[in-house]
Amino acid sequence: MSSSPAEQPRQRLIVAITGATGSIYGLRLLEVLRDLPDWETHLVVSEAGVLNTMHEHGLGRKDLANLADVVYHPGDVGAAIASGSFLTAGMVIAPTSMKTLAAVAHAYADNLITRAADVVLKERRRLVMLTREAPLNLAHLRNMVAVTEMGGIVFPPVPAFYAGIQSVDDLVNHTVLRMLDLFGIHSDRLKRWKGLGAGRGQER
Ligand SMILES: Cc1cc2nc3c(=O)[nH]c(=O)nc-3n(C[C@H](O)[C@H](O)[C@H](O)COP(=O)(O)O)c2cc1C
Repeated sequence: MSSSPAEQPRQRLIVAITGATGSIYGLRLLEVLRDLPDWETHLVVSEAGVLNTMHEHGLGRKDLANLADVVYHPGDVGAAIASGSFLTAGMVIAPTSMKTLAAVAHAYADNLITRAADVVLKERRRLVMLTREAPLNLAHLRNMVAVTEMGGIVFPPVPAFYAGIQSVDDLVNHTVLRMLDLFGIHSDRLKRWKGLGAGRGQER
């Protein structure tokens, strides 16, 4: 029996932050989602992820506890998001380390992040991985192909310089809002491309 539209539950999005540099992407994503009442956030931060949130933003595990509706420890493999029967719209891993990428590519579900990603893929839900490494070795590239073949979306945070980027903040926002596009969340804050003529009298 499904619920009526009036009592439609909030959509759930799993957000994970792993130990690659760029924890700002996951943090900004949570900030944006906090303003969307229809969305419920479920956060897992890996041990190395906390090293980076501390190094880059001075935030430890206790500070991160307030950033989402539900927060899990990465060792809690019995949590709700470890099961496909717990309904979610999918998962974003931002940033994704090459280690977590490798684990997801090989269904090596050794913690709650890799298990939740495994579940999202097996349930054919949306998985977006903001992979962060440069340059890439062949294993990284092969793992990205494997995730893509399973239906995951590999989304490296490549700057969109065409989008009127003035600051690092603009750059982060653009990437985060483009990721949310993939979940049907279309923000009017995103500067969308209107063609080269836009703003120049449409002379082209
Ligand atoms: C300051 C710092 C920056 C790092 N940046 C990256 C990175 O950009 N990409 C990456 O794949 N690993 C990076 N690492 C290494 C990962 O944190 C490490 O491989 C870790 O085991 C990943 O574990 P996790 O995926 O469970 O978070 C970084 C580590 C530190 C301490």
